[in-house]
Amino acid sequence: MSTMPVQDSPGDVLAVEIEGLVKTFGGLRAVSDVNMRVPQRSIYGLLGPNGAGKTTVLNMISGFLSPDSGAIRVHGKETHGLVPYRIAREGVARTYQNIRLFPGMTVLETVATGAYTRRRSTILGAITLSRAERRERAEVKEKALGLLEQVGVEASPDALAETLSYGEQRRVEIARALATEPRVLLLDEPTAGMNDAESQQIGELLLRLRGEGLTLVLIEHNMRLVEEFCDEVTVMNSGAVLAVGTLAWCLEQPDVREAYFGKRSDARRIETLRRARRG
Ligand SMILES: Nc1ncnc2c1ncn2[C@@H]1O[C@H](COP(=O)(O)OP(=O)(O)OP(=O)(O)O)[C@@H](O)[C@H]1O
Ligand SMILES: [Mg+2]
Repeated sequence: MSTMPVQDSPGDVLAVEIEGLVKTFGGLRAVSDVNMRVPQRSIYGLLGPNGAGKTTVLNMISGFLSPDSGAIRVHGKETHGLVPYRIAREGVARTYQNIRLFPGMTVLETVATGAYTRRRSTILGAITLSRAERRERAEVKEKALGLLEQVGVEASPDALAETLSYGEQRRVEIARALATEPRVLLLDEPTAGMNDAESQQIGELLLRLRGEGLTLVLIEHNMRLVEEFCDEVTVMNSGAVLAVGTLAWCLEQPDVREAYFGKRSDARRIETLRRARRG
């Protein structure tokens, strides 16, 4: 593994810290002794060819999967063994590689489900539709509409989420995640299925979110986007970390070059890499 020499700021608690993470599926070591240090208020890229183990790492941070061994800390708190909703309460939200929107729900309702994870009112209040409950509903609606605008969803809030274009659905998912008021947002291929202009908008959204104090960890294959927006990256292959540093530095490492350029199935990625390198 290659690590770019960097100046560590030892006083800062890391947003996400992973040590010696291992996950096997049957005989397959999908994640093998992975370490990762994500500083607070950074845009952090998790890269690597297909099957590298990136989504599995994200699934363990969000509690979707339980590690076989290793440690995960979020803002210094050990989260290994906590169920997903407890990890969400620690301020971790995520989006999915394969979009997961609830069927039959409107765009607005979808985002509101995120906001309701923070709800204050009681079941009894909901049944009797108390004044507090009505006020909360109005607040949630306003918040959801604000988030939809922030992430650039142009479709009507009353449209069924599943009828939106792929890119719009991804933005709705981001809005739903943001509605939980996370401190760490995990994004699994947020620009998949988007054109260059839409991807650029996502990059700019990430910058704004970082400006508001969020930490963003994203799995991303669009190297141009990674080069422009990620502060630091970890590159994985076959479950292991190959390199850690800036994208430009990582792409100079022989292991990384081989992982990408050595596989014919990744021809499309290689082309985006080359384009990114040419600027
Ligand atoms: N639930 C599972 N059961 C069995 N094998 C799995 C499971 N999830 C992932 N794997 C395997 O683990 C390895 C890592 O998969 P993972 O989805 O983490 O890769 P990835 O880096 O996200 O790839 P991609 O870029 O294609 O999304 C792959 O070989 C995959 O087939
Ligand atoms: Mg994946």
